Parts: sequence; structure tokens; C-alpha cells
Amino acid sequence: MRIGIMGIGYVGLPLAVAFAEQGHDVVGVDVDPRKTEALTRGESYVEDIPSPRLQAVAHRLEATTRAASLSRCDAVLVCVPTPLTANREPDLGPLVSATRVLADVLQRGQLVVLESTTYPGTTRERVAPILEETGLLAGRDFHLAFSPERVDPGRSDYTLRNTPKVLGGLTESCGDRAEALYREVCDEIVRVSSPEAAELSKLLENIFRSVNIAMVNEIAMLTDRMGIDIWEVIDAAATKPYGFMRFEPGPGMGGHCLPVDPFYLSWRAREFDLTTEFIELAGKVNQQMPYHCVSKVERVLNEAGKPVNGSRIAVFGVSYKPGVGDVRESPALKIMALLGALGADIAYHDPHVPSLPHDDRRSESFDDALDGCDLALIVTAHPGVDHDAIAQRAPVVVDLRGVTRGTRRSVLL
Ligand SMILES: NC(=O)c1ccc[n+]([C@@H]2O[C@H](COP(=O)([O-])OP(=O)(O)OC[C@H]3O[C@@H](n4cnc5c(N)ncnc54)[C@H](O)[C@@H]3O)[C@@H](O)[C@H]2O)c1
Repeated sequence: MRIGIMGIGYVGLPLAVAFAEQGHDVVGVDVDPRKTEALTRGESYVEDIPSPRLQAVAHRLEATTRAASLSRCDAVLVCVPTPLTANREPDLGPLVSATRVLADVLQRGQLVVLESTTYPGTTRERVAPILEETGLLAGRDFHLAFSPERVDPGRSDYTLRNTPKVLGGLTESCGDRAEALYREVCDEIVRVSSPEAAELSKLLENIFRSVNIAMVNEIAMLTDRMGIDIWEVIDAAATKPYGFMRFEPGPGMGGHCLPVDPFYLSWRAREFDLTTEFIELAGKVNQQMPYHCVSKVERVLNEAGKPVNGSRIAVFGVSYKPGVGDVRESPALKIMALLGALGADIAYHDPHVPSLPHDDRRSESFDDALDGCDLALIVTAHPGVDHDAIAQRAPVVVDLRGVTRGTRRSVLL
């Protein structure tokens, strides 16, 4: 087969490589020439795809900013971003623009699958009409389906291959066609009856996480006041063999998904006269967490007789999760901005983030960041970083991830 991927980022690139590894020709189309040029040079920008893996399939992988070659594809998978506008409403700009470009080259008999996370109704009400402006009818002249991406960046135990893939076709034959395609790269396909069910299943997964993280964050703010160790409480509760699922508190939610996706559903729900209280409440609690963390830093410095103003704070881990370099919506950035506004002198160490966007700071070496600091702040606990050494060497440590619990020298979230 020849497969087109529109949007070759965190989602699109692993898909492109997986299909190429199965012997299919892949054309990746992206509006960002830096990405297409890097791929052409055999350089990966996604941690989960090491460059040698990319180079091994280079002869089957074409990366381009021009959509014309999509016309020769059997299937086109759309993996473009689905962000929020400044007013926190769904921004379908990239999706609509990619769909219009695709409509210009759409051919009879092609399969189109949307993978971007979005609200129920997008595939049928927004994508299909644009593609049908060509005169071709979805479900008759071309196939259309929605299949959400479940990739968890940085994770190696669950991959595209062994993570069940949910799929909803516009018609039965759309679903059959998409299922045959994904069988090439996934062991298990979970068919649902419509694109809407598939779209909502992805949002349910993310809202489930967002709500549970918010709940445990709220309890962490309470245990902080009560003088109870939240980590000890969670460890104890997690010994229950049924009916409890472990979620951990932290500095807030980051990444492209959890801070964004739930609001796609709350926006859509308003059209149905419903306010989705859980989503709003979880968003509110999680957005407060960086402020809670900053006040904790203020208190700890105060106990050491120091103001935030002029104190040197070493931040460890600025990406939004361990093992990856993605800083999108990372709460570390918010925390650094808040501390910076209070006059703190901030250095950071993150082996995955050599420099920050819109910031002059660069990652300092572990030792340079630690030496001379008044307080070390562990925001994201990357594997391979010696957190025990931080707890031993820094005058005080605020540990937002509970990784230095054993050392008894740090202040936990
Ligand atoms: N990153 C994740 O962990 C993850 C997991 C599951 C689902 N998703 C969803 O997948 C979608 C893509 O996310 P991502 O993390 O891969 O984003 P990304 O920003 O890493 O990649 C998207 C790519 O699309 C390109 N693009 C933008 N507009 C385009 C257009 N009109 N035509 C062609 N290319 C265009 C961008 O340049 C970018 O390279 C989003 O809907 C996201 O919510 C992401």
C-alpha cells in the first residue's frame, strides 16, 4: 500500500514509521518544512523514534510540504493538532485547512482516517462535508473513519502494536476498510458503531485521567494543611486489591492532551444544554496546582529565613512528563514564570530540554544547577537524574513528585 500521513508530529511520525516497517510506502505531509527536512536527512525529532529506526526505512518514507503526492495514496491518516483558541474553545483551524488541502487531491476509492483528538461529530459534520465538496460521496466514493491515537510518549511497554486501537467507520464498509489497514500495525482493533463513539471514547479516557488527577491534587492540598504525608496515604490506599486506582498528585497537567482535550467536550456539551461540571472543576483544580507549588516554595524559603526575591532556585525537570522533551503546557514553565515574577534567580537542569522556547535560559549541567542554589525544586522526575543526590546536596528541596521520599531531607508536595 501507499499511505499518506498529514501532520508528522508525535502521533504521525510513529504511524509513518510503523507502516514503512511493514513494507508500505509512506508519504508524510507537514506544513513545517523543518520537520520534512529533518526526516529527509534521516533525523528524528520524536524521542520514541530513534534516528536509526527512521534511517532503516528511509527508502520507503518520503516527507514533503506538498500534498500533491497524497493523490497516489490508498489511505490518508490525518494527525494534525487540535488545540484550543485563546478563549479556550476548539480550534479546528489546522484540521479544516488540512482537510481542504486533502480535498484538492482526493481520489475515488481512497480511505481517509482522522486520528486527531476531537469532539464527537467532527468526522461526520466537519471533515466529510469538506471532502464531499469534490462531488465524491463519503461512504460511497471514498471511505471515512475516525480512530483515536493512544500513544503515550516515552512509554515502551505499550506501543502502537500492542495497544488496542478503537475504530469507528462512517459506514460498515468504511470500518472494514480501516480495520484492514490498521491490522498491518496493530494486534487488536476495537470496532465501535460510529465515528462519534470513537471520538468520545478518546475524550472519556483523557477526562477520566484529568478528573482523577484533580481529585488527588485536591487531597494533596488538604493533606499539606493537615500535616499528613499524601504519598503515605496513597501507598496505603493502593494496597486495596480492588476498587482503587492509583493516581498521583503533581504540579499540574501538561502536554498536548489533558489540559486541552476535555474542553473539546465541554464546548460541545453546551450545544446540548449541558454544563459538564466534572471537566470544568478538574480543569480549575489542576490549573491551581502551579500556584500551590509556588506558595510551598515561598513557605520553605521563609522557614530558611530567605525571601523568594534574590534566592537562587534550581528547577529539575521542565518537560511535562518524565523521559520526554515536550514542554507544551508544562506546569514547570508556569512555576518558573511565577517564581521569576517574584524575583527568584532561576536555573534549570533537564537532559531532555537543552533550551526553552521564548526564554534565553539553557539547561545547566546537574552540578552547575545545584551548586550555590538556595532551594532545589523537583518538578519532573526524569529517569537517570540522581534525585537522591539532589536531596543530599541542596540546602532544601521541594519535591513535587515524591521521588525523594526515602531521604527524609526534602519537603514533599
Ligand atoms: N502527543 C500525544 O501524546 C497525543 C496522543 C494522542 C492523541 N494526540 C492527538 O493527535 C493530534 C496530533 O498531536 P501531536 O502531538 O502529534 O501534534 P504535533 O504538533 O506533534 O504534530 C502535528 C503536526 O501537524 C502539522 N500540521 C499542522 N497543520 C497542518 C496542516 N494543515 N497540514 C499538515 N500538517 C499540519 C504540524 O506542523 C505538526 O508537525 C492532536 O489532535 C492530539 O490531541 C496526541
